[in-house]
Amino acid sequence: MTPELRHLFQPGQIGRLVLPHRVVMGPMHLGLEARDDDGAALAAFYAERVRGGAGLIVTGGAAVGRAGAGGARYGVLTDRAFQHRLSRVVDTVHEAGGLIALQLFHAGRYAVESAFGLRPVAPSPVYSRLSRCEPRELSTVEIAHVADEFAAGAELAQWLEFDAVEVMGSEGYLIDQVLRIRPEVDDRKCQRRDTGFDHPRSPFSVAARRSMACPTASRPMRVTVP
Ligand SMILES: Cc1cc2nc3c(=O)[nH]c(=O)nc-3n(C[C@H](O)[C@H](O)[C@H](O)COP(=O)(O)O)c2cc1C
Repeated sequence: MTPELRHLFQPGQIGRLVLPHRVVMGPMHLGLEARDDDGAALAAFYAERVRGGAGLIVTGGAAVGRAGAGGARYGVLTDRAFQHRLSRVVDTVHEAGGLIALQLFHAGRYAVESAFGLRPVAPSPVYSRLSRCEPRELSTVEIAHVADEFAAGAELAQWLEFDAVEVMGSEGYLIDQVLRIRPEVDDRKCQRRDTGFDHPRSPFSVAARRSMACPTASRPMRVTVP
C-alpha cells in the first residue's frame, strides 16, 4: 500500500467528530426519501453502506422547506413523516456501528414547482432551463427566512442525533446561485451579496452558527458554512 493510501485508512477528525478512517460516502439523493414505508428502504440502504465500511455517510439532500424541494420524491425536513424516516435511518446506522451526517438542501431556481405547487425562489429572477421557469426573486426578509430554515434543519439533525450536518452549497443549487453572482450580468444580483449567505455575519451564517451552539446538543457537530 502506498503512503497516501495508508493515510486514507488512518483515523480522521472533522471538528470534534472522530472518524475511523477517511473514506466518506458522498451525498446521493436516492428517490427513497419520500417513500411511505416508515424509512425501511432508506435505512436498509445506508446500513448496507456501513457494513461496506464507509467511515461517514452523508445523506442525500434533505430539503429545508417545501419551496426548496428538488421534486416530489425529495424528503422535506418540516414533514413529520420524513422526520420519522430519518430517525429510523439514524438509529439503524448507529446500531450498525456507522456515523451519518444530514445534508441540508435548497434547490433555489432548480426547485420543481409541480412538487408542492410553489414557484421556485432564487436570488434573482433568472430563467432556469432545468426547472423551466423563471423563479421569484427572494426579498431580504425571505433570505433571512431561508437562513432560519437551514438553522431549523440543523437543530432537527441534532435532535434526531445525526453526527453532523453538511450544508449543500454546490452544483448550482440555492447557495451556489448566491455565491456565483456575476455583477456584469445583473446589478440586482450584486445587491444580494450584502444580504446573502457568503459572509460570516450574513443572516444565514449567523443562524446556522447559532443553531450549532444549541446547549441541548449532546453530540459533536460540525456545520460547513460556505
Ligand atoms: C443519483 C445521484 C444523486 C445525487 N444526489 C446528491 C445530493 O443529494 N447532494 C449532493 O451534494 N450531491 C449529490 N450527488 C452528487 C454526488 O454526491 C457526487 O458529487 C457526484 O456524483 C460526483 O462524484 P463522483 O465523481 O464520485 O460520482 C448525486 C449524484 C448522483 C449520481
